[in-house]
Amino acid sequence: MDSVHSLDRQGSYNYEIVRRFTLTTLFWGILGMSMGVVIAAQLVWPELNLGLPWTSFGRIRPVHTNLVIFAFGGSALFATSFYVVQRTCRVRVISDGLANFVFWGWQATIIAMLASYPLGITTSKEYAEMEWPIALWVTLVWIVYAYLFFGTIARRTVKHIYVGNWFYGAFIVVTGMVHVVNHLARPVSLLKSYPIYSGATDAMVQWWYGHSVVGFILSVGFLGMMYYYVPKQAERPIYSYRLSIVHFWAIITLYIWAGPHHLHYTALPDWAQSLGMVMSLVLLAPSWGGMINGMMTLSGAWHKLRTDPILRFLVVSLAFYGMSTFEGPMMAIKTVNSLSHYTDWTIGHVHAGALGWVAMISIGALYHMIPKLYGREQMHSVGLINAHFWLATIGTVLYIASMWVNGITQGLMWRAVNADGTLTYSFVEALQSSHPGYVVRLIGGSLFASGMFLMAANTWLTVRAGRRIDQLPIPGRA
Ligand code: HEM
Ligand code: HEM
Repeated sequence: MDSVHSLDRQGSYNYEIVRRFTLTTLFWGILGMSMGVVIAAQLVWPELNLGLPWTSFGRIRPVHTNLVIFAFGGSALFATSFYVVQRTCRVRVISDGLANFVFWGWQATIIAMLASYPLGITTSKEYAEMEWPIALWVTLVWIVYAYLFFGTIARRTVKHIYVGNWFYGAFIVVTGMVHVVNHLARPVSLLKSYPIYSGATDAMVQWWYGHSVVGFILSVGFLGMMYYYVPKQAERPIYSYRLSIVHFWAIITLYIWAGPHHLHYTALPDWAQSLGMVMSLVLLAPSWGGMINGMMTLSGAWHKLRTDPILRFLVVSLAFYGMSTFEGPMMAIKTVNSLSHYTDWTIGHVHAGALGWVAMISIGALYHMIPKLYGREQMHSVGLINAHFWLATIGTVLYIASMWVNGITQGLMWRAVNADGTLTYSFVEALQSSHPGYVVRLIGGSLFASGMFLMAANTWLTVRAGRRIDQLPIPGRA
């Protein structure tokens, strides 16, 4: 593979950073989803815990969640944000050295998480399990990333700031803010710290953070992706620029208030729970604003879905986004939550968003970018993309449908009481009824993960026959 070295660096984009994060998205995606398959299998056959502490479900589960959110989702957001900000601002990222620092800094973070969680070294706060030295390091990497992103916007050579950058920008600012506040802790040793908050306050700060991970990483960040890749792949302008601005401001204003819906019927004050519920219900409107804006971009181009599996990934991801952001507000209603909480319904909702929306839009964006980053017209095999699309779609549907059935069954069995007030079913009986659902989820998850292997093979064949494009002229500058 050779690269063209004819143009001055400032007259070209830094695609190297995009390529690196693209390949790590694939790598971490495969590993993280395989871990998902392992824990799904452990829930079918508990013997797979192997009787060892570091291979037990409780320790592998945070390895799965952190790998898929921060390593896979994070890398996808780094790759696409560096690609989009450079191309829409028509300027090279402001420092190649710092971009490399962000890349290696992020890989080091992931390795540190992988090394500590199986050993049980965690804060035990969900999605914020990293102990204080890792959290401090992430803060540094994040500040450099923010400097690069906003610095590149400041040096743009076009007047306009493309809407996708607004979404990426909000993701960067709010993620940094909630990360710092939720990780404030008193270290007692190199590997142990205690939060500065206690009791219900600690829980509230944790879920203010937790829901912001959902809202600003898994939703707003990926909406930034949607605003670039859907119009590009459909070769149509975004349906409504005005709608994109309105739903941007509405979504970032509302998301930050919805955290208490994770703490219904707890020691949190009742008014805070009700506020979280109301904000979650209102959130339906801007979420659907984004979904409709993306979908309607295809007006007049629907026929392309017949021949373009990349566009199919992008559109189906929007459908799952619409579905999960309808389901979320419903689950935030206290009476509904009293049935759904603690059950597999939540797990189904999570993966409707995670597999259907987050993973599918990332996969579509990667398929769009990879040929461009390696000087090819298109991916090596469109047939393989098509096969991947069906594996991913069928896998997601099997996963979420089985978890809905399980969740509602569990919720109803747990609350069933006899005339004398005793429980109708024991916990084990509810678990036994859940077993078939766990088998179906394992099949669905395995289908989804096997699609990722097809993608890796297709990428390898594309990269092998391509050449790295490093010195692509910036329109109007070279
Ligand atoms: C092959 C694909 C996947 C499989 C088989 C899988 C499987 C699982 C399993 C078995 C659990 C534990 C459920 C429980 O505790 O009862 C889980 C949790 C979770 N997974 Fe996945 N997963 C996959 C992909 C993903 C992806 C791509 C994401 C994110 C982008 C994701 C995010 C999560 C989250 C956030 C949780 C925790 C949910 C909660 O605490 O409510 N998963 N997954
Ligand atoms: C309008 C949008 C949304 C609302 C109002 C919402 C609401 C909810 C509610 C009520 C729960 C259950 C809380 C509980 O009983 O513990 C939940 C859990 C969750 N949702 Fe959503 N959701 C939305 C969209 C999404 C999207 C797009 C994703 C993307 C992946 C997502 C990911 C999650 C995760 C990971 C959890 C599990 C958190 C945990 O307990 O570990 N949500 N959501």
